[in-house]
Amino acid sequence: MKYFLDSAKLDEIKEAYSTFGIDGVTTNPKHVMNSGKPFLTVVKDLAEWVRSEGLEGYEKFPISIEINPHLDDADEMIAMAEQFAAVSPNFVIKIPCTEAGVAAARALEKKGVRTNLTLVFSPSQALIAAKNGSLFVSPFIGWKEDNGENCEKYISDIVKIYKNYGFYGKTQIICAAIRSPKQIVDCAVAGADIVTAGLAVYKSSLAHPYTGQGLGIFCDAWDHTATE
Ligand code: E4P
Repeated sequence: MKYFLDSAKLDEIKEAYSTFGIDGVTTNPKHVMNSGKPFLTVVKDLAEWVRSEGLEGYEKFPISIEINPHLDDADEMIAMAEQFAAVSPNFVIKIPCTEAGVAAARALEKKGVRTNLTLVFSPSQALIAAKNGSLFVSPFIGWKEDNGENCEKYISDIVKIYKNYGFYGKTQIICAAIRSPKQIVDCAVAGADIVTAGLAVYKSSLAHPYTGQGLGIFCDAWDHTATE
């Protein structure tokens, strides 16, 4: 399963790449706002960073950039998506999973602009994303589980449906808004292609109290053992 970083902060992306070997990045308007930088600066910085790392191309390192969320006309969505896609071959354009969004994604994919249908909350939405050829679909896990739902079946249903109809691996499932190591494991068990999470979640997924405790035990033993 691939790990994407959900962030628009370049310092976090660099750290996640060198520490965890992340496979891609997802951004959204909230992450861009939180970066404190103008939108176009974020976009240019990301494009420049992948170039400098020799990671050009969405096949090597996809970066999801979201179009203006106010747009609700497919032609306007297409125009903005094409404008972003022209900036970097790494950009996969994030589009909301609405009627206009699906129409725009379908047309963009036919033109060779790769898309990520976002704000997906049901298997029926995920099926439409796949039928229309999006590269990625982003079912949100954290938002549902924050509201008391258990998403294990939700994720495995999407995987099963994709397998039933030959979409598995073609439209890759990015489980989004991941909040905990448990959710990462749930996605991996279900067979999701990708998770996207903040850096803190990946850090906590690597930490375990027994690892620290065990290190203490071994350090103690080391210190009480003669070298020769
Ligand atoms: C996914 O691609 C989204 O950017 C993301 O997961 C949104 O949710 P969050 O910001 O609440 O985590």
